[in-house]
Amino acid sequence: MRPTSVNFMTSANTASTSSNPRSFPAGFTWGTATAAHQVEGNNWNNDWWEWEHRVGTSVKEPSGDTCDHYNLYPQDIAMLAKLGFDNYRFSVEWSRIEPEDGEFSQAEINHYRKVLEACHEHNITPVVTLHHFTTPRWVAAQGGWVNDTTADLFARFSEKVAKSLGDGVGKWCTINEPNMVSTIGYLLGEFPPGTKSRESRAKANEVFCQAHIKARDAVKSISSAPLGITLAMQEYTINVDDESHREAAEGKRDMAWDGLEDCFLEAAKGDDYFGVQTYTRERFNQDGRIQPDQDMRTTIMGYEFRPQALEACIRRAWDKTGHVPIIVTENGIATSDDAERIEYVHGALDGVLNCIQDGIDIRGYTYWSLMDNFEWMYGYGPTFGIVAVDWKTQVRTPRPSASWLGRIARGNALLPRNA
Ligand code: BGC
Repeated sequence: MRPTSVNFMTSANTASTSSNPRSFPAGFTWGTATAAHQVEGNNWNNDWWEWEHRVGTSVKEPSGDTCDHYNLYPQDIAMLAKLGFDNYRFSVEWSRIEPEDGEFSQAEINHYRKVLEACHEHNITPVVTLHHFTTPRWVAAQGGWVNDTTADLFARFSEKVAKSLGDGVGKWCTINEPNMVSTIGYLLGEFPPGTKSRESRAKANEVFCQAHIKARDAVKSISSAPLGITLAMQEYTINVDDESHREAAEGKRDMAWDGLEDCFLEAAKGDDYFGVQTYTRERFNQDGRIQPDQDMRTTIMGYEFRPQALEACIRRAWDKTGHVPIIVTENGIATSDDAERIEYVHGALDGVLNCIQDGIDIRGYTYWSLMDNFEWMYGYGPTFGIVAVDWKTQVRTPRPSASWLGRIARGNALLPRNA
């Protein structure tokens, strides 16, 4: 994801498994990702459900049953294993596990234990995200992510999950893209809580960084599974008509980096891995961000079609974190043309290989998303899935990109687009 409004101003190893230059290192992991609110259905006890039903927001439609993954997870996990993937990144829903302050639901913990068991049954490594955009209503009512206490509440929740489920978790992600919640929710007002304030965004960034560090300490005291945070990163380039404007444009770009990325890249320094999540590029001129030109190829999200963006973001993350190992925890495209999806992923993986050749420690690639799902304020329009979902029958139909990427996963080597 990337901010919607422009100008807000603002164990791996690096040895190749074979001599095939298209091969990924031994131990490289291949996965797909989802998030609880986007696929489970009926997560009515969080701030997003309330936001979807609030009059006057820009949310196109409510999430409702979405993919009913809460019930259909056994078949979904079996499907992704059959396709060839070896890991599944999903999130546990805080508002289900802790429906009120300090009240934990054993039934919901048991549910997620069964999800972990389904993964293990199919030799899938579960990559568990503790916070993916949604916050329990009771936390939101206490001030949400601009209240320092939320960092402690999140650490308490994380500790509970680590104690109850930790023995089944393969990798932890504390928080998914905190920079999108802080920017879209607290600066642009298009995610809950709908605040539009530069100070609130700065405060939310601070509380999220604290929450990550406190949750990391809590989880790491219980579980030895690798832990990291993920960030929404886009490639930023300068686009000026006149070179005399370059410095001003770079200043705008640096401000964007400062507000959106830098404190999180710093907070990630003690982590086991860093999760890069990239979808597109954004260009800056002396006035700030500029929209894609009319003649540019764009995706359903209105983003520039730019598979090369992933490589640029991996390089920046590697550099700024002081060489924390990288996992691509999300990369993907919303398109109605599945051949275009293959073209996009092929281009992105080419960039991953370039980075690996340059010695960057990249340990895995995760496609967003396993299946079409609820795309936040855009509702069910954007189709990111390698698997299509029939919203009337809940029937899943893998697209050609699913078997193409699954074969890449099995072979651990990039295939031609038409293979
Ligand atoms: C988010 C997902 C979202 C995807 C596509 C990522 O930023 O983590 O929840 O669906 O982008 O926009």
